[in-house]
Amino acid sequence: MCGIVGYVGPSLDSRPMDVAVGGLRRLQYRGYDSAGVALATPAGLHVVKRAGKLEILEAALFEASPPPATAALGHTRWATHGAPTDANAHPHIGGQGRCAIVHNGIIENHAVLRQELADQGVVFASDTDTEVAAHLLAAALEQTGDLTAAMLRTVARLEGAFTLLAVADDVPSTVVGARRSSPLVVGLGDGENFLGSDVAAFIEHTRQALELGEDQVVTMTPQSVKVVDFAGQEVHPRPFTVDWDANAAVKGGFPTFMNKEIHDQPDAIAKTLLGRVDQAGRLQLDELRIDEAVLRRVDKIVVVACGTAAYAGHVAKYAIEHWCRIPTEVELAHEFRYRDPVVDEKTLVVAISQSGETMDTIMAVRHARDQGAKVIAVVNTMGSTIPREADAALYTHAGPEIAVASTKAFLAQITATYLLGLYLAQLRGTLFADEVRAVLAELEAIPDKVGDVIAGEDRIRHLARSMADIGSVLFLGRHVGYPVALEGALKLKELAYIHAEGFAAGELKHGPIALIEPGRVVFVVVPSPRGRDQLHAKVLSNISEINARGARTVVIAEEGDVEVAGVAGEVVYVPQTPTLLAPLVTTPPLQIFACELATAKGLDVDQPRNLAKSVTVE
Ligand code: G6P
Repeated sequence: MCGIVGYVGPSLDSRPMDVAVGGLRRLQYRGYDSAGVALATPAGLHVVKRAGKLEILEAALFEASPPPATAALGHTRWATHGAPTDANAHPHIGGQGRCAIVHNGIIENHAVLRQELADQGVVFASDTDTEVAAHLLAAALEQTGDLTAAMLRTVARLEGAFTLLAVADDVPSTVVGARRSSPLVVGLGDGENFLGSDVAAFIEHTRQALELGEDQVVTMTPQSVKVVDFAGQEVHPRPFTVDWDANAAVKGGFPTFMNKEIHDQPDAIAKTLLGRVDQAGRLQLDELRIDEAVLRRVDKIVVVACGTAAYAGHVAKYAIEHWCRIPTEVELAHEFRYRDPVVDEKTLVVAISQSGETMDTIMAVRHARDQGAKVIAVVNTMGSTIPREADAALYTHAGPEIAVASTKAFLAQITATYLLGLYLAQLRGTLFADEVRAVLAELEAIPDKVGDVIAGEDRIRHLARSMADIGSVLFLGRHVGYPVALEGALKLKELAYIHAEGFAAGELKHGPIALIEPGRVVFVVVPSPRGRDQLHAKVLSNISEINARGARTVVIAEEGDVEVAGVAGEVVYVPQTPTLLAPLVTTPPLQIFACELATAKGLDVDQPRNLAKSVTVE
């Protein structure tokens, strides 16, 4: 939650403010209930902050025309402690303007510290946990006279998860940052340097970055970046180059990021598949740095993830079990972590996360590794925590996903887990080389098929607009269509605030059928008639049962499935695809439906209420 930007540059001008605001624009998905900037100038610090979306801050900055600066901090907030008001917005000031800080995370011992500071006569201006850190920093600055030393003293007093960035009035060309269990990445420029919650914050300025580790403090001037651990010892973080295209983080002519990202999906799948096959035609996952002997011994796979990523894990389960014959479980990361799961050194844990920063998933990864399991991270954001802490990383190359609700990252995650399944099958010999190649060839054809589905979006959008006043929608699917149904329901909840439920179609008669009534809209993801015969026939029977009770069915079915046209209300056809790969083509219609219905209701599809894209607290 909360997006953080820091910048320090060579001259006194408006660039620090422009970089901070531009970075916040790209980080808004992390929180958007208030925003603020602190500008460091030779004449002191200048803070502007406002409740509400970033546009409100931008308007305030335009009106105030702040002074030129040498450094800046920016913050976009997702409230935890204290309502979204101007006073609770970041930056927070310590020492009557001596220093300013922005914070992401939760300071768990804030109440004790607040009391201690109040007893010393400190008057608080906000209800936030963050403000205690600002006052502690100001006191430490008084004692040490040095911003880095003061930050080290401050973090020693804090419990919980935090990224803190600070500027001080006497060093206007220095920004200091600290991180514990909360994300922070350094961007290395030419005579200027950047900090961000993730690389999206500075991708338009530099692709050279440094991965900060746990419990580290970074001190940045225009010419230098120095990193120490919390004990003050210098460390040398790993540099990396960001492979995202800077243009990927702009709307590119689409009305919203969500629309753009839906259209990005063929490309996201193609890029995730790119460069994985060697000259001999064998699948290579070169980010996979676990000993092959260890992978051969694996006797159980547990996929851990949250939200949409967990549904990608559900799809992975079907494919991995079928191809590799390894028992595979999928578990919500927060449930996995706290139920004492049976995990040992023969367990392979696959952690799926777009951001790589979801705290629930990070905690599951740590727990699994403590039990001796190997962890493979399937992650979209380079430089994030989960791949750094995992034994291996398999990146989805979906590019930056800005809309809060996930679309292209989901399809890229599914694609990456197919690659993982095929790799394990190749390694363990459960598929022949020609079988692996055949699936890879089918995967290569998927981007065009997804493109075809999206090209037919007008029909789905029309359908969505005609249903703008519906109250509750059910989604049914069987086999790999089941997680697609769950994702279809989640998208509708997230974007359109409509009650929606996804069910396994076989479960219909065990309960959900009681919800079927005249006028109810039911989406059904129909398996291919070319797959297992029983699956198709059984889902068609479900559709008839729903029709018989007066509900309205909208089905997603494969081209050439003439039988389904006879029973369904509306049919959205998708290209023929092998059964296990079908989620890649059956999901986009449901995304488009949710996006259009929310738009028809006048809602903000990029920033739905109450949600944050990256949930960095448990
Ligand atoms: C939040 C977001 C979801 C996302 C989930 C997992 O709940 O709102 O859209 O699916 O986190 O995020 P991750 O970054 O780990 O994939």
